[in-house]
Amino acid sequence: MPGLLNIGVIGLGVMGQRMLARLAAHARLRPLMVWDADPQVLAQTVARHPHLRPATSADALIRSSELRGIYIATPPQAHIPLTEAALDAGLAVLCEKPLSTDTDAARACIARIERERRRAAVNFSLAASAGLSVLQQTFGIASRRPLGALRSVELELSFAAWPRPWQADAGAWLSGRLEGGFTREVISHFIFVLQRVLGPAHLLRSTVRYPVDGLGAETALDAELLAAGVPVRLRASVGGVPGAPADHNRMLWRASEGEIELSEWFGRIVQRDGTQERVLGSPEQHHVSGTVDLLLHWMAMIEGHSHSLPGFAEALAVQQTIEALLAGADKE
Ligand SMILES: NC(=O)c1ccc[n+]([C@@H]2O[C@H](COP(=O)([O-])OP(=O)(O)OC[C@H]3O[C@@H](n4cnc5c(N)ncnc54)[C@H](O)[C@@H]3O)[C@@H](O)[C@H]2O)c1
Repeated sequence: MPGLLNIGVIGLGVMGQRMLARLAAHARLRPLMVWDADPQVLAQTVARHPHLRPATSADALIRSSELRGIYIATPPQAHIPLTEAALDAGLAVLCEKPLSTDTDAARACIARIERERRRAAVNFSLAASAGLSVLQQTFGIASRRPLGALRSVELELSFAAWPRPWQADAGAWLSGRLEGGFTREVISHFIFVLQRVLGPAHLLRSTVRYPVDGLGAETALDAELLAAGVPVRLRASVGGVPGAPADHNRMLWRASEGEIELSEWFGRIVQRDGTQERVLGSPEQHHVSGTVDLLLHWMAMIEGHSHSLPGFAEALAVQQTIEALLAGADKE
């Protein structure tokens, strides 16, 4: 069997811990060194996972000769500086979304990755999903259009609270206007899917509601986009949807001869054509295959093979759509 791929993990909050849990029993991807700017978080992580070695700094981790790649799970501001340092050290990078808060720095980093043919990808959780494959087969460029021509895409999301309860321990950045909010944090995953299937989306109109304190992240968003000539409607809000699940998301792709509805993070996929309705797979199957595929593609990326994880340029394209949505033509 091919050898172990040692990984360094930087940022040990909610996502860093999740990735450590996912990798716990993996045959090849082995988290070896960890670093977090918060010494308490670093100490707690090493106490929980005694096989992990705490680094003395991000630089020390990146300069370790034992690593093949790093996973960056810090808040967005540190993504590009840490990526640049990792590229200097010849490491393959898997970075969390959103790519960056600094578009110029992100562009320069992308140009470097392309010029130097470096290995770098961004972790959009739907990139390895069965739902994305179904959409590509049904509506993608190479599709035979089994449901006819795509007429519209609708995305609706609602959150009982923001941040969501499972992210309550995340830093203050998540509820702040500068780096946080559900548009960057959640809608970005669906914009990634939309643009992967249809190509660039153009903003037609966006109305954003913010709290009056001038600091808090958005509480509602209502927007229209156009992708490959197809109208896209997007509605999202925090609180205020009676009876909706605590963390609800639903994407509906309507075509001339049927539709595909994806909900619960693409865990539930329903295809309808004429009078027939088919549920494709189960949430458990989609969850397992999504995790296995992510790790397979991550290994391929580290080893320089082809993979389908989003690159930095694709992630920047998502971010530009997201920032355009937030900049909103009509602010409330
Ligand atoms: N792909 C997904 O499905 C998904 C889901 C949730 C969050 N995320 C993304 O993951 C990233 C992290 O989110 P989170 O929820 O884990 O946040 P978090 O606030 O829980 O954790 C971030 C950790 O990074 C540490 N940190 C901050 N700056 C650092 C630096 N410069 N160097 C080292 N450590 C630093 C903090 O001390 C904290 O422990 C964000 O970009 C977020 O958008 C992705």
